[in-house]
Amino acid sequence: MRAVVLVGGFGTRLRPLTLHSPKPMLPVGHRPMIERLVDRLARGGVTDVVLALGFKPEPFMEAFPDGKCGDVNLTYAVEPEPLDTGGAIRFAAESVGINETFVVANGDVLTDLSVADLLAAHHSRMAEATMHLTGVDDPSAFGVVALEGAADGGIDRIVDFVEKPEPGAEPSNLVNAGTYVFEPSVLGLIAAGKRVSIERSIFPMLVERGGLYGFSTDDYWIDAGQPELYRAANLDLLSDRRVFDRCAAIAPTAVVSSSAMITNSIIGDNVEVGDDAEVVDSVLLAGARVGAGARIRASLVMGAVGAAAEVIGSMVGAEGVVPAGSRLIDGALPDPAAV
Ligand code: GDD
Ligand code: MG
Repeated sequence: MRAVVLVGGFGTRLRPLTLHSPKPMLPVGHRPMIERLVDRLARGGVTDVVLALGFKPEPFMEAFPDGKCGDVNLTYAVEPEPLDTGGAIRFAAESVGINETFVVANGDVLTDLSVADLLAAHHSRMAEATMHLTGVDDPSAFGVVALEGAADGGIDRIVDFVEKPEPGAEPSNLVNAGTYVFEPSVLGLIAAGKRVSIERSIFPMLVERGGLYGFSTDDYWIDAGQPELYRAANLDLLSDRRVFDRCAAIAPTAVVSSSAMITNSIIGDNVEVGDDAEVVDSVLLAGARVGAGARIRASLVMGAVGAAAEVIGSMVGAEGVVPAGSRLIDGALPDPAAV
């Protein structure tokens, strides 16, 4: 089984963390998000993945130099210019000559969905396209569906699809969870070489044809594309919320002072945490440095936090330096707007 994984977005909402690293290469529980995603696809029977890239292919090629991610064969389809989700799917599928049922996944989704179950549901209805659905509290930030029958789990025909509706105008609280099974006929609906949104242009067409189905599950699911959710995706690996994935709180290569207090946090490779520092509900990404007595809460840190500084609800990018003794609250360093 082949899969196209969309990894070409700009990761705008995670700047400054994504200034030098594309979103799917950011670690979740010490491993690049994309590795955890490819592992999940492999568990469901995927053997070959095409990464649909819009920009910055180098970090992926460097991370997987032999074209393998675990046992899965990786190839790259680099768009000449970003083609949006639909254009990217067509471009990537054509670049490897896909002409059979295939899987598509958004590159920033972490879930315990069984792709094998999604495939079985798709075939059971002879659907043209089947979308994983999940229930959320605020559907307006997603693609939202209306189903033909009662939304009681399992597979059903989708009779309406609206991408990011106005709050209050959502047809339900069931949203597109970003993993699909497509028949190759879907590719023919996408104009070649153009910017096409699968969500805004193609899903409504499939609804019209009666070929779009939704498979609802209550599996663990998170779109890690926003700071709060990226942090949650990391910290959830410390809890029993995940069925398959877990991680250690502190990477073996991290150097953490014995007087530092680490609570519900992930400390990445080669991170240094000084004496009496306090780290709570936070992710210190590989190479971060935290000075003595610094206090970090609900934050994502790649760069340096000076001694006795306080960082709350903030992101510190690789080049970010929080001066000793200063406070950064609900901020981002370096300021993404200024870079
Ligand atoms: N190759 C390529 N080219 N990939 C792209 C492009 C492009 O031009 N634009 C976006 N992508 C990739 C992103 O990298 C990401 O993996 C995926 O497509 C989805 O883009 P996001 O920017 O993360 O979209 P979203 O989170 O706002 O919404 C999407 O995901 C939701 C579920 O997480 C939509 O599919 C929604 O309908 C869905 O509910
Ligand atoms: Mg997303």
